[in-house]
Amino acid sequence: MSIPFIDLKSQYKEIESAVKEGIDGVLEHGAYIMGPEISDLEARLSSFSSVRFGVGCGSGTDALIMALMALGVGPGDAVFTSPFTFMATAECIALVGATPVFVDVDPVTYNLDPEDLRRKIADVKDNRSDLTPKGVIAVDIFGQPADYDAIEPLAHNSGLFLVVDAAQSFGATYKGKPVCSLGDIACTSFFPAKPLGCYGDGGMVFAHNEELHKLLLSIRVHGMGEDRYENVRLGINGRIDSIQAAVLLAKFEIFPGEIIKRQQVADRYEALLASVPGLTTPTVAEGNTSVWAQYCVLAENSEHRTELMGKLSDASIPSAIYYPKPLHLQKAFANLKYTEGDLPVCENIANRVFALPMHPYLGEEDQANIAEALKG
Ligand SMILES: Cc1ncc(COP(=O)(O)O)c(C=O)c1O
Repeated sequence: MSIPFIDLKSQYKEIESAVKEGIDGVLEHGAYIMGPEISDLEARLSSFSSVRFGVGCGSGTDALIMALMALGVGPGDAVFTSPFTFMATAECIALVGATPVFVDVDPVTYNLDPEDLRRKIADVKDNRSDLTPKGVIAVDIFGQPADYDAIEPLAHNSGLFLVVDAAQSFGATYKGKPVCSLGDIACTSFFPAKPLGCYGDGGMVFAHNEELHKLLLSIRVHGMGEDRYENVRLGINGRIDSIQAAVLLAKFEIFPGEIIKRQQVADRYEALLASVPGLTTPTVAEGNTSVWAQYCVLAENSEHRTELMGKLSDASIPSAIYYPKPLHLQKAFANLKYTEGDLPVCENIANRVFALPMHPYLGEEDQANIAEALKG
């Protein structure tokens, strides 16, 4: 039997009756938009994340756009972020009219390098009279938290906001704190392949402060005021569907157990892959936990990666590259005039990284076969 990269079918077997019951509930009450499942989900996930407010929304991308709109980001603002992430992180900055400023990443965690962040903030202050430093979006890539104790003071002491892009890390902890309790606003995604995913698109924005919460609720529905036909600001249609919220409520029941299983899979990989020559397994910083949205390893160089991925493919084992082209080198950001060599750590990782199958239902035998194929 072939090994799936992510196994949503085995998961579905665990929750089938709860999912069907939840969806049936929505079909019966008929409140497809803003049904009671949404406030239920918001209450559960914000409590799980030790944060006061959760605002369900249409996707992780919507979550980031809503966060930046609520924080008043616009033209002339510089927002510092990672180039080693999914497009949405930086795209949302440009979509609200601001300018992404890319910061190199740490060679071990692949998350924002605080030292480079310090340099890039100073550089914009000193040399970019056209830009005002406004905020930082830290990304918890592959499910591992960024270095918040270093990043948060760098942002806040310079008067910048901190947004946590927890699209890949919902359920992870930084020094014991849930990642969505960090920063001024945290955003997550419920894309089906995410650690907590729905059966379509979905996301959530988390905030501690009442004022931001009210702004997010308004922005989610076209900038509504007291009622939906009073529009007091610009917003979007950023709602999550009631059916997706019902799916998430069913999946959330088994989510804590799945986090434990993901860690067990990661631990087994760590042991099995130690004997693959030239392969570097991921390291989670001391005191933190990852939810292993991806299990990404590093080859020695791009030729070695091609060779290892070829061995997997010969054994019918899927693998994938996240992310082959850093955002600063994407055509969509050509106007920012970055060139190869500008962010060397990120570029080096992008040439070497690849992801192995990772999901809570991955068995020991399959993992042993994956390790054997890599050694072969
Ligand atoms: C780091 C990161 N940010 C943002 C997003 C956007 O989330 P969505 O696909 O739900 O819009 C993703 C999704 O892949 C992501 O991985």
